[in-house]
Amino acid sequence: MMNPLSDWWNYLKVKLGFQPDTSFVARQLKKPGGFYAGKITDRMNKVNHSLLELTLSQFKPGSGERWLEIGFGNGKHLSGVLNDCDLNSLHGLDHSAEMIAMAERENAKRISDGKMELKLGCSSEIPWPDSFFDRVYCNNVIYFWQNPQLHLREIKRVLKNGGELACGFRSRSTMKNLPFTNHGFVLYEPGEWADTLRRAGFEELRQHLVTESRELNPSLNISLESVCLVGRKPPAQ
Ligand SMILES: C[S@@+](CC[C@H](N)C(=O)[O-])C[C@H]1O[C@@H](n2cnc3c(N)ncnc32)[C@H](O)[C@@H]1O
Repeated sequence: MMNPLSDWWNYLKVKLGFQPDTSFVARQLKKPGGFYAGKITDRMNKVNHSLLELTLSQFKPGSGERWLEIGFGNGKHLSGVLNDCDLNSLHGLDHSAEMIAMAERENAKRISDGKMELKLGCSSEIPWPDSFFDRVYCNNVIYFWQNPQLHLREIKRVLKNGGELACGFRSRSTMKNLPFTNHGFVLYEPGEWADTLRRAGFEELRQHLVTESRELNPSLNISLESVCLVGRKPPAQ
């Protein structure tokens, strides 16, 4: 994912007060790192806060439960999730070493008291044992899965029987207005993602959809259609 020439060029552009190239922004969203990591993660936290709330609101606070977040960005929200949702433990997986480092700094206390664990890795090969988690969630990550079934199979493996997966994302009709999505993003309408989840063997799907007001994100100048789809791994037969 490193592209030294493009990174250098975009560094210069940003230093001079210009917007970076859309292909550079797309690469940063997929795997934040380098000089732009702090900027893009701050921006993501602002624009995606309401989607995070939508996704978490689909899960009842689960005392004694173990949850996994895939693709947590800089992880500023993780200690809040752990406290508010009354969990036994919260675990996080991200394939960017810089996101892991930032999130470790943000959540040092909860990591040292054993309530939080963060690992570097990709959702196509999740570094936890079978049937480990009660719930798994991810926000704005599915766009980067070129073969979603590969990732969903792994998520199903680490979920307990009857455990739930929640995926938060913005619909294709929203995302296609943002030029960086032309660079390798895989976009879905809610029904298409529901079909993908069903194909992976998730059942009892629930869909929640919110159209956010334009004023919430004036710089984007569009209304974001936020979607959260929840599916259950079938209980043991
Ligand atoms: C667009 S950012 C979203 C961050 C945050 N969830 C949000 O909604 O603001 C995508 C995050 O997922 C991580 N990521 C993308 N694909 C991944 C994968 N296959 N496995 C693990 N992490 C991934 C990236 O490193 C980044 O931290």
